[in-house]
Amino acid sequence: MSTITLKVNGKDVTRDVAPQTLLVEFIRETLQLTGTHVGCDTAQCGACTVHLNGRAVKSCNMLAVQAAGAEVTTIEGLAAADGTLHPMQVAFNQCHGLQCGFCTPGMVMSAVDLVKHHQADSDESVRAGLEGNICRCTGYQNIVKAVRSVAAQG
Ligand code: FES
Ligand code: FES
Repeated sequence: MSTITLKVNGKDVTRDVAPQTLLVEFIRETLQLTGTHVGCDTAQCGACTVHLNGRAVKSCNMLAVQAAGAEVTTIEGLAAADGTLHPMQVAFNQCHGLQCGFCTPGMVMSAVDLVKHHQADSDESVRAGLEGNICRCTGYQNIVKAVRSVAAQG
C-alpha cells in the first residue's frame, strides 16, 4: 500500500491505496463519488472523465498513485458551493443533451475542458473535441447544441 494525498473537489484527501488501484476505482469505491461512471475500463467511452489539475482525463486510464499531489474535480465538484449548477450542467439540461444520463458526467467534464481550452465554435469542432466520449442515446446533436451555447456565452 502507498499513502497518497490529493485534493478532490477542493478538499484534501489522504488514503492508503494499493499500487494497482485505478483512479476511477479510487474515486468511486474509496471516496464513494459515484457520479464518475465506468463504461468500458479501456479508455474508450469517456464515462470516467474527471479533471486533473484542470484538464480532462479518463480516470480509468491512470493509477490513483499517479494523482498524488494533484487537484481532481469530479462531477460532484462542478457546481458552486451553494449548489448553483455549472453553466454546462444548465445547458445540458436546457438543450436536452442527455437521455439515460450514463455518459453525462464524463461528457460534461470533457465539455467544460473543451470550451475552456480548445475550439468550440462550430458543430464540427465540438464533435471533434468530444470524440473521446461515447453516447448511445442522444445522437449527439443536443449535446453539441449545449456545448455551443456555453461557448457562445464567452
Ligand atoms: Fe474510462 Fe470508458 S470507463 S473511458
Ligand atoms: Fe445515455 Fe448518453 S445519454 S449514453
